[in-house]
Amino acid sequence: LAEFTNIVCTSMNKNHADFDYCLLKAVNRTYKYVSLKLSIYEKPITNIKVNFAVYKRANGYKPFLYNVTLDGCKFLKKPKSNNVIQYFYGFIKDVSNLNHSCPLNEDIIIEKLSLDIVNHRMTVILPVPAGDYLFQAYWTFNNKWTVLFKLSVQLKN
Ligand SMILES: *[C@@H]1O[C@H](CO)[C@@H](O)[C@H](O)[C@H]1NC(C)=O
Ligand SMILES: *[C@@H]1O[C@H](CO)[C@@H](O)[C@H](O)[C@H]1NC(C)=O
Ligand SMILES: *[C@@H]1O[C@H](CO)[C@@H](O)[C@H](O)[C@H]1NC(C)=O
Repeated sequence: LAEFTNIVCTSMNKNHADFDYCLLKAVNRTYKYVSLKLSIYEKPITNIKVNFAVYKRANGYKPFLYNVTLDGCKFLKKPKSNNVIQYFYGFIKDVSNLNHSCPLNEDIIIEKLSLDIVNHRMTVILPVPAGDYLFQAYWTFNNKWTVLFKLSVQLKN
């Protein structure tokens, strides 16, 4: 079973974009979710570079499986083009407004990414060993400004 352990949202260029909220909410023992809103002060977004890495804790976090840099606009245009990215995109696809091709003319929202979704993807869609995982993504927009998103998940047997 998965459990959220931490979430971090950092904007490196607060004059271009900043997080209105970035939270981990526990409604009760089983219904927990992550929500965030990134306000964009310079629209449209026509270019997105994403560096995405997964770490697993073993005496400090060690890289686990993936560390990829991708062209986000290219991916959004053809989401089926890359299976690995598609797997990770599956976490947010149905709960965010990152569901269409560029340009993006709106603030970026992830609304209620639930523990159920995370659990399903980590134990059913692609089962991974128990442990502490860290998903880290640097998003660079319009080649100019960057935000960092980190989500830690503990997976127990
Ligand atoms: C937890 O909250 C959700 C949403 O309000 C509800 O549907 C569910 O029944 C609750 N579960 C428990 C165990 O209280
Ligand atoms: C992941 O890739 C980025 C960009 O290429 C690099 O800066 C970073 O050091 C890499 N991290 C790991 C753990 O390999
Ligand atoms: C994208 O997500 C937004 C917000 O959830 C929704 O209103 C919109 O209909 C979705 N668009 C597509 C093309 O699925």
